[in-house]
Amino acid sequence: MIPDSFVQELLSRVDIVDVVERHITLKKAGANYQACCPFHSEKTPSFTVSPSKQFYHCFGCGAHGSAIGFVMQYAGLGFVEAVEDLAGHLGLAVPQEVSTRSQEKAKQQPLTERMGQAARFYKEQLKASPKAIEYLKGRGLTGEIAARYGLGYAPDEWQGLQRVFEDYAGPALAECGLVIDSDQGRRYDRFRDRIMFPILDQRSNVIGFGGRVLGAGEPKYLNSPETVLFHKGEELYGLPQARKEIQQQNMVLVVEGYMDVVGLAQNGVQNVVATLGTAATGANIRRLIRLADRVVFCFDRDSAGDRAARRAMEVSLEHLVDGKSIEILQLDGTQDPDEFVREHGRDAFVKQTQNATRLSDFLVRKLVQESNPHTAEGRAKLVNEAKPLLQKIAAPILRVQITKEIAKHAQLSQSEVEAQCGLKPLVRNRFAPPPSRVHPSPNALERILLLTVLRRPERAARLPLDLISTESPEGAALLAVAEAIDQVALPAGNLGLLMEHFRGSPHADLIAGLASQAEREAEDEGEQEEVFLDAIGRLHQLSLQRQVDVLTAQARAGTLSTAERQTLASLLARKKA
Ligand code: CTP
Ligand code: MN
Repeated sequence: MIPDSFVQELLSRVDIVDVVERHITLKKAGANYQACCPFHSEKTPSFTVSPSKQFYHCFGCGAHGSAIGFVMQYAGLGFVEAVEDLAGHLGLAVPQEVSTRSQEKAKQQPLTERMGQAARFYKEQLKASPKAIEYLKGRGLTGEIAARYGLGYAPDEWQGLQRVFEDYAGPALAECGLVIDSDQGRRYDRFRDRIMFPILDQRSNVIGFGGRVLGAGEPKYLNSPETVLFHKGEELYGLPQARKEIQQQNMVLVVEGYMDVVGLAQNGVQNVVATLGTAATGANIRRLIRLADRVVFCFDRDSAGDRAARRAMEVSLEHLVDGKSIEILQLDGTQDPDEFVREHGRDAFVKQTQNATRLSDFLVRKLVQESNPHTAEGRAKLVNEAKPLLQKIAAPILRVQITKEIAKHAQLSQSEVEAQCGLKPLVRNRFAPPPSRVHPSPNALERILLLTVLRRPERAARLPLDLISTESPEGAALLAVAEAIDQVALPAGNLGLLMEHFRGSPHADLIAGLASQAEREAEDEGEQEEVFLDAIGRLHQLSLQRQVDVLTAQARAGTLSTAERQTLASLLARKKA
């Protein structure tokens, strides 16, 4: 854990203009800087960096955030790595809160070293094994790709690793999952006579292995067990090798097997990773959509592949955000990606990926296939089957689109489907137009207040906090922001800092979206102030009206006390004023 105070210090010392300029050239435009957006392709610059707010924003694609956010998005790094990167440039050491996590890290170090040693051993053994080399050649792999993926060979010996590890009998190798202890207390190598695929983490440390038999034999693949280093559900095979190409293409291809990754890379498709085991997890999806705007799953066309597709679809629905595209590619024929690319070549494969089905279409198609919407019963079934899936969708625009599609097939209206499926309105999307000012509902008022406060944080001190309800997400976020501004004492309206303060909190998306809107629609100061005061006025009016309503209802029921009657009279007088 990086302490919050360090993140704040870092962001108040770093200048977002310098950070962005490390990667792209900026041009001064008024108080801000401009460039063509690095996150989508464009000819005229709509990417702006505000030095006063320490915030970047693209009018074209909506990308926005702090200096940390920029490094994460640009370099495809995680939060911790991005902080480390920025701190490195300033010559600051990142303090580590002594957390269980860093203690765990310290424990991991000796294990990581052993995994590296083992990988080197397997690599050397590959060079010494003609039959292993023959096998890889037979599968169309060159030495170059074998080296790129660090492929190796575990010799056909019970204690081959004894040659590298003096402490073969000690606890470390067992903790690494490299050896197995038999019931008789005899220790032997887990991997024997197998092609070895090292699995790397983000820093390219070896954390696990997959091992394939050279010909026929069971099991075909043997994998490292879960260890302190290796958490299958979180890792993606081939990511370090694919990272650059993923960024360049802004697309990541996800396949099922080690051989698919390596085989595709061999044939010039490098932006490819594999999940470990067949199902994609939430952690996988979150990682993948951070890497690129397009995530294309390519599953085998067998029953395991179908299950995997269904599972990936369900998990994706929970994590999808508007503006990102998750797609499912089913290759023509029955070949897996490795076989396909070997037979038909790179271009044919790339062509297939261009025809991948968007998750939303895939989902509707599957649901329609599984029910029979030509009958009333079938249409009812369709809505029933759609219900749990629709409820999972977190992206507002996408949900509306899919709901509309389902409604069409079910011969219902969109709102009927929404009602049938118990869909509650989602938080307004950050790219949606601002609410109209004519008859704002309370949360629209709170939204306007939040927007004006983000434009000028000093306003927070003037908010009527007791009138803001935490019932709507906007109200809750507004109160949280007011509190944060009070605590953090933002230097000169540093929006970037404020956003980092909320990273990971339930308010994060809403605040980020509005901060971005605040940047996008720069209103003049006088107008902003008017909007702010108007919203506060309306909030007072609404609160008055609410009290009047309660008391009037009591009056009708004849339960009004004398004191309450007086209150009602004075409230009505104030309302008129
Ligand atoms: N897998 C596994 N254990 C098995 C079989 C498969 O862990 N006994 C996992 C592996 O991660 C493997 C993936 O599932 O990479 C896909 O398996 P499969 O489609 O059977 O293998 P291919 O990738 O086609 O491998 P190959 O081409 O070498 O047969
Ligand atoms: Mn295969």
